[in-house]
Amino acid sequence: MASETDVRAKLQRAGQDHLLRFWADLAPEPQAALLAELASLEPDALREHCQRASAACALAPGPLLDLEARLQPLPPERVGSAVRCDRETLLRWEEEGFRQIALNKVAVLLLAGGQGTRLGVTYPKGMYQVGLPSQKTLYQLQAERIRRVQQLAGQRLGTHCTVPWYIMTSEFTLGPTIKFFKERDFFHLDPTNVVLFEQRMLPAVTFEGKAILERKDKVAMAPDGNGGLYCALVDHQILEDMKRRGVEFVHVYCVDNILVRLADPVFIGFCVLQGADCGAKVVEKAYPEEPVGVVCQVDGVPQVVEYNEISPEIAGLRGADGGLLYNTGNICNHFFTRGFLDMVTREFEPLLKLHVAVKKVPYVDEEGNLVKPLRPNGIKMEKFVFDVFQFAKNFVALEVCREEEFSPLKNADTASSDNPSTSRRALLAQHYRWALQAGAHFLDVHGVQLPEQSG
Ligand code: UTP
Repeated sequence: MASETDVRAKLQRAGQDHLLRFWADLAPEPQAALLAELASLEPDALREHCQRASAACALAPGPLLDLEARLQPLPPERVGSAVRCDRETLLRWEEEGFRQIALNKVAVLLLAGGQGTRLGVTYPKGMYQVGLPSQKTLYQLQAERIRRVQQLAGQRLGTHCTVPWYIMTSEFTLGPTIKFFKERDFFHLDPTNVVLFEQRMLPAVTFEGKAILERKDKVAMAPDGNGGLYCALVDHQILEDMKRRGVEFVHVYCVDNILVRLADPVFIGFCVLQGADCGAKVVEKAYPEEPVGVVCQVDGVPQVVEYNEISPEIAGLRGADGGLLYNTGNICNHFFTRGFLDMVTREFEPLLKLHVAVKKVPYVDEEGNLVKPLRPNGIKMEKFVFDVFQFAKNFVALEVCREEEFSPLKNADTASSDNPSTSRRALLAQHYRWALQAGAHFLDVHGVQLPEQSG
């Protein structure tokens, strides 16, 4: 194991030797833990990371200057719509999707490494339950949807099929997630088809470019963003696992969308029939300033442009049909071929942009007291999963119905949107619609039929 002197010298090279300032106060065990953590940080990379974070943060985010000239909506031939297409087309996409699922060629991949700071719980967001009568958690709802899509595909094509579930976690979410799944018998999925793996972590940095100590014996580390997926796929040989299972198509999604359709046959079928290597589901933006990224083209290349990168004038532009020109809201539901993921991990991952997230990072002050800051004090650097769209040879987008497919859980109920209540209502409303479509009638306590509700 590296000695304190070695590690101190490395940190001095990186301009980060303050990380050892409480060394003399520590007992042997915490000393060893701190040393092990610090020894794993490579000095040049650490120096570069800290400098880069502070420099990137100094550049205020805002509308990109020459964006107007570079931005275009996706070409119409690249965009399908499950909302506007005829029934025959929809059934064709769905049939193809079910066929690929029945052939065991489809996997789902959950991005569950986030810290869920806005929701404010201390456990992984997937373990959260939004107050449904069934008390099901997000993880359980997703597991059940996987079982159902396997069953439907199997019934249609007379096979017994599997949709493997890959779950990317982080240092924060891996342990509790494994324990949760084990205690619940993997929600009756075969545990060999649930593959959990861990993404990397990066030090959180002050605005002055100093790595932060969250305790005297621990550096404040944060997961490297959902775009950390591509390194994590390599670190844990996930693409090799997919290959062994014969998986060719991967549906990647976020943990917090209670309406997510796992391995949605319509989306899979649409992407496969279009010959896409990469695809995204989108919903029509609700209003010009809605804080969602827009899937569009920059310099002719598909990208997600964040809402704060577009000026209000551009966000409000309207097309010939009167609708918003940039109306394709990103909902973090992506389609990738295994071949595309392989190419990204081998060739393009180092080119992915690092984004700055300014957050409240608990720290120890000069006197060694633990401080929970009231205002953001630290920078976390993150990669984004969608930043690989630019490398696609054949990118497509599929518009889907927001009310059926998108209701993210981001905030606590103290916020006005994207909170447990909105998620709960969205799912209950969906189940209500499904019941009506199946011919159900709702009766009051006296057995009198209730009028149908809209929304
Ligand atoms: P968000 O950007 O909403 O972040 O993640 P979050 O961590 O869940 O919540 P806040 O911002 O701290 O409140 C979108 C999706 O990306 C995953 C999350 O788990 C979620 O599914 N994610 C985020 C990762 O898998 N890894 C990360 O490093 C960050």
